[in-house]
Amino acid sequence: MRKNAVRPAGRRQGRISMLSLPMIALALCLFVINMAAHAAEAGSDAVTPTNLPRILVLATGGTIAGQADTRATGAYKSGQITGEQLVQSVPGLDKLARLSAEQISSIGSQDMNDKVWFALARRIQQAFDKDEADGIVVTHGTDTLEETAFFLDNVLKGDKPVVIVGSMRPATAVGADGPANLYEAIQVAADPRSRRHGVMAVLNDKIEGARSVTKTNTTSLETFNSPNAGPIGYVDTAGGIRFTAQASGLKRATYELPANEQLPRVEIVYSHANMDAVPIEDAIAHGAKGIVLAGVGDGNTSKQALDALELAAKKGIVVVRSTRVRSGFVTRNVEVDDDKNGFVVSEDLNPQKARVLAQLLIANGVTAPDKLQEAFRATW
Ligand code: DGL
Repeated sequence: MRKNAVRPAGRRQGRISMLSLPMIALALCLFVINMAAHAAEAGSDAVTPTNLPRILVLATGGTIAGQADTRATGAYKSGQITGEQLVQSVPGLDKLARLSAEQISSIGSQDMNDKVWFALARRIQQAFDKDEADGIVVTHGTDTLEETAFFLDNVLKGDKPVVIVGSMRPATAVGADGPANLYEAIQVAADPRSRRHGVMAVLNDKIEGARSVTKTNTTSLETFNSPNAGPIGYVDTAGGIRFTAQASGLKRATYELPANEQLPRVEIVYSHANMDAVPIEDAIAHGAKGIVLAGVGDGNTSKQALDALELAAKKGIVVVRSTRVRSGFVTRNVEVDDDKNGFVVSEDLNPQKARVLAQLLIANGVTAPDKLQEAFRATW
């Protein structure tokens, strides 16, 4: 055929198809190899469920599970949404952990009680002892969140993460903080770096230790703080987790739960100007095994009240001097002769936490003043 002659399309195609068969085969091979590579890559990125940590969510109620109430603008009822519904309502949790949820109670935490505490403690310990979970998240009202955290921190054995979380706005509120708090709580509970920190409270991008965290504002999202110790870390959905404290916790011991599922009666007596002995006398009359003084200043109170506390101690009632002041340590033998009276000082523990520790100590038969004081010690 003459050079440059225009070949009929068929012939050219024929020539091209003859020429390009190996090319097509090569292209096909490259395509298949490429697809296989993508599939393998996708496979390696897609974390299979078996790779994710197992997090058990135990719901108790609270505002995080609250729903608006038509009673009034801003009104809501706590504990209306189940733990399962909470978990289902937050997108992306399934990328963090293999989640399961159980309902322990459905109460506002102002109604928190020994029964729920014991149920929580036993369920968590069972989940750890039977290796059912790699971490625990407890959803809870904020009013007594710090007490539950401190109670659990003092009775749970093992070093797996336990995170307690709540919210300041109900699930139905504009700008509800619950979903983000729950997401962050699960981030922390699912992270191996969270082990050996004891029970932690996670709200508003902060990780707080059970001994130090307290509610400091009636309505603010930033309400949880640790006035004496500061947060032990920070968490946010974008940056992940940053611990700023060593994983050690300040727990002195792990206390046994009393078999009768009841903690001994320990009263908190709030001191103020013109204080008399009546609240202390009432506590003694109602069978208190311990009295915690929410004292003025460095755990002080009036002479009348102090005389009544000395009488209580002589009767074998555990007396702990704490303070109504927001921060600082209560110090032994400054204006009160603790050694002579057999009193204990709460150090950094606020009255509500001093009460929990006193209950656990009494329930475990620790009543000698020196042993009690050792159990309250706040520093290494
Ligand atoms: N009902 C209160 C409670 O459950 C509301 C406080 C809250 O959860 O934020 O503690």
